[in-house]
Amino acid sequence: MKREFLMNLNTRVLKLNKKLISVCDIATEEIQEVFNIARAKDFKISPGKTFISLFFENSTRTLLSFEKAANICGFNVLRFDPGASSLVKDETEINTIRTLCAMGVDACAIRTGKSGYTALLANYFSAETSILNAGDGSNQHPTQALLDLYTILENFNIVFTKNCLKSLKIGIMGDILNSRVARSNIMLLSKLGANITLIAPPNFLPWNFRNYYMKQFNCVISYDLAATLKAGLDILMCLRVQKERMESGGKFSFSSALYSVKSEEELNGAKIMHPGPINERVEISGSLAYESNNSLISKQVENGVYIRSALLKFLCG
Ligand code: CP
Repeated sequence: MKREFLMNLNTRVLKLNKKLISVCDIATEEIQEVFNIARAKDFKISPGKTFISLFFENSTRTLLSFEKAANICGFNVLRFDPGASSLVKDETEINTIRTLCAMGVDACAIRTGKSGYTALLANYFSAETSILNAGDGSNQHPTQALLDLYTILENFNIVFTKNCLKSLKIGIMGDILNSRVARSNIMLLSKLGANITLIAPPNFLPWNFRNYYMKQFNCVISYDLAATLKAGLDILMCLRVQKERMESGGKFSFSSALYSVKSEEELNGAKIMHPGPINERVEISGSLAYESNNSLISKQVENGVYIRSALLKFLCG
């Protein structure tokens, strides 16, 4: 069954299931509703609800963004710190969740380094608890894709409709093989009509991935960043090399001469996005990321708080 069909199966899929594990778990109508809440900035929920961040893998943006969002909404905000917890006394992660549930939890953001593990852990919460996947291995990062979409619509002044990205050419460049952000964005943005070009050296875009993305999501494949930028993109999304997901211990690397952007001239008018963390001078220069008018990177971070607040309000308000 094609993903786009799954995504349209139920117009209230997230409201009913309360589990945002993948971008397939939110219907188009629900995205529109969440974006309306984000724009109106009306985030307050009824008092007495508890949010827990449960991050088994490191994070700066997503962790603090979720916690700021939960505070804005009016949750009691708790952070579970694995290193300071009874996990180090060999308590299992599943029994940890049983303990959290006994205390009472209305919403929980989970990050894990293992693909598919958030979906498994979600089964141990009650059906009423809202679960938001804050990134699982190389699988999915749905709130990142939603905040990226919101940032694109805002920057290009596009009204959200079912095919609203059809005029946009979006390049996704870098370690596509290991990137959950790439997976979520390819699925979400192509569903809304975006023309997506995947740009990577062959070791980060093996033939089975390449064929899958071409067939399922109409992606174009490029091994030449300079030529793709010269031909014209509206947006270039950069990804860092995800060393932590490589069995080879991070030996695969970029040729940063070929798969890196350093100046506005190279962009040829394209806006630049990056989910972070940035590896400066590998896939992007620091000045381009943080000083250029072409960069939407700080806006992505700012919008992350609004989108996560809106999701929490949508689920728990
Ligand atoms: N974009 C993102 O997931 O960044 P963090 O790993 O810092 O949360």
